[in-house]
Amino acid sequence: MKAVVFDAYGTLFDVYSVTALADQLFRGRGNEISQMWRQKQLEYSWLHALMNRYVHFETINHHSLTHTLNQLQLAYEPEQIASLLDAYHTLNAYPEVKNALQSLPPHYRLAILSNGTHRMLKAVVDHNGLTDVLEAILSVDDLQTYKPNPLVYQHAVNLLHTPKEEILFVSSNGWDVAGAKAFGFEVAWVNRLGKARDELGVYPDHIVPDLRALPSLQS
Ligand code: LAC
Repeated sequence: MKAVVFDAYGTLFDVYSVTALADQLFRGRGNEISQMWRQKQLEYSWLHALMNRYVHFETINHHSLTHTLNQLQLAYEPEQIASLLDAYHTLNAYPEVKNALQSLPPHYRLAILSNGTHRMLKAVVDHNGLTDVLEAILSVDDLQTYKPNPLVYQHAVNLLHTPKEEILFVSSNGWDVAGAKAFGFEVAWVNRLGKARDELGVYPDHIVPDLRALPSLQS
């Protein structure tokens, strides 16, 4: 392995860290909001990609949140939407992330490959003090499509100048794991939530509960 490429949302950063703010803004509904918002956000990314009507992830985040609040019949002010969207810039990294990345052998090149825009990713990486740990932050926004389009995974190969066989891809999202494995990466699934594996015909090479196990996966 020459490089380790990480998914961002759900893998390094906890998308459910917006729950407390959502709960404060919409009393007692934070959990429902954050779960539905994340699910709709992903669905919209897949649908926009399939329709060949790319809009960037900040817009998708806005539209999926609006839908969620409407679906839950919650009245809202524009400022409430703005503060929830803004919270994506300060999502918490999972507690083990920084140490786990720093304890990988120094010759590994570390990068993020994410649906997020460069602006969103830079903000959340800076917020969590990971800027110096990562060599590159790669965004689908350069390609105007979304995971699991193989073009997205190819983008990491191109920009890191590293063959796919020498890249370990790490994601907690089962469908992203399948997309990366179908493309040809070696893949580690971070099954943080003890979920059943996705049945998409391609399966991860490694399953780990969190990133602390990564150094022992070296091949
Ligand atoms: C990402 C989404 C899949 O960071 O979580 O690309």
